[in-house]
Amino acid sequence: MGKSYPSVSKEYKEAVDKCKRKLRALIQEKHCAPIILRLAWHAAGTFDVQSKTGGPFGTIKNPQELAHVANNGLDIAVRLLEPIKEQFPILSYADFYQLAGVVAVEITGGPEILFHPGRPDKTESPPEGRLPDAKKGSDHLREVFYRMGLSDKDIVALSGAHTLGMCHKERSGYQGAWTNNPLIFDNSYFRELLTGDKEGFIQLPSDKALLEDVAFRPYVEKYAQDEEAFFADYAEAHLKLSELGFADEV
Ligand code: HEM
Repeated sequence: MGKSYPSVSKEYKEAVDKCKRKLRALIQEKHCAPIILRLAWHAAGTFDVQSKTGGPFGTIKNPQELAHVANNGLDIAVRLLEPIKEQFPILSYADFYQLAGVVAVEITGGPEILFHPGRPDKTESPPEGRLPDAKKGSDHLREVFYRMGLSDKDIVALSGAHTLGMCHKERSGYQGAWTNNPLIFDNSYFRELLTGDKEGFIQLPSDKALLEDVAFRPYVEKYAQDEEAFFADYAEAHLKLSELGFADEV
């Protein structure tokens, strides 16, 4: 059991390592880890396990996919990353955006996430409407994440990424951060979620759904108490997300 990854050249591997260093520097300088992580997630989260369409294959940079309502504002992330990408023409956009997502988590204090190179770039964007709607509850979250081939545990662990960043009125219609340190990746999202609504902070309906659902809530409580457990499950779930539709199970 395990995945069989394509082999990439020595030159390609060296470009990944060098690019990782450049990404660290850029993300640190621009304080843009949150939007970069959101880009990597929206790039991957369109995967459909049945039709094997969508997924982390570089299509998110297509103007037509960037124009999907769920992707509002992500043109900024694509633009921020472009000067780094230009230095590494050998890398696929598919690998590059997922590498950037991994770096965004690591550089803000989150867990290390394995990275396997070799994703090909595809041309065809998935249809609009595959990413989750923040106004909806747990049935919708399950529908969307099960379609990707992910589990209840993955849903809760990955939602912990809202430890980073904030909502912007002009992008999503919501405003505010989930935690008081939106540039630090820790388990504070779960601690704040359990505390309930607080002036100046945001909790989306899809965040609150994690509290109300009997299968989700135990994970919220565990991750609020035990950051190590959150980091371990997050790293595993993020790895899966970043490799949806990539490399076959053998
Ligand atoms: C569970 C379903 C999810 C919903 C409904 C959701 C919804 C949203 C919304 C509405 C925003 C605000 C965008 C803006 O106004 O700028 C946001 C931001 C963000 N999301 Fe999610 N999200 C979900 C899952 C995830 C996952 C799985 C990740 C990563 C693994 C993630 C990472 C982020 C990050 C880092 C931001 C902050 C972006 C910034 O500060 O610019 N989200 N999300």
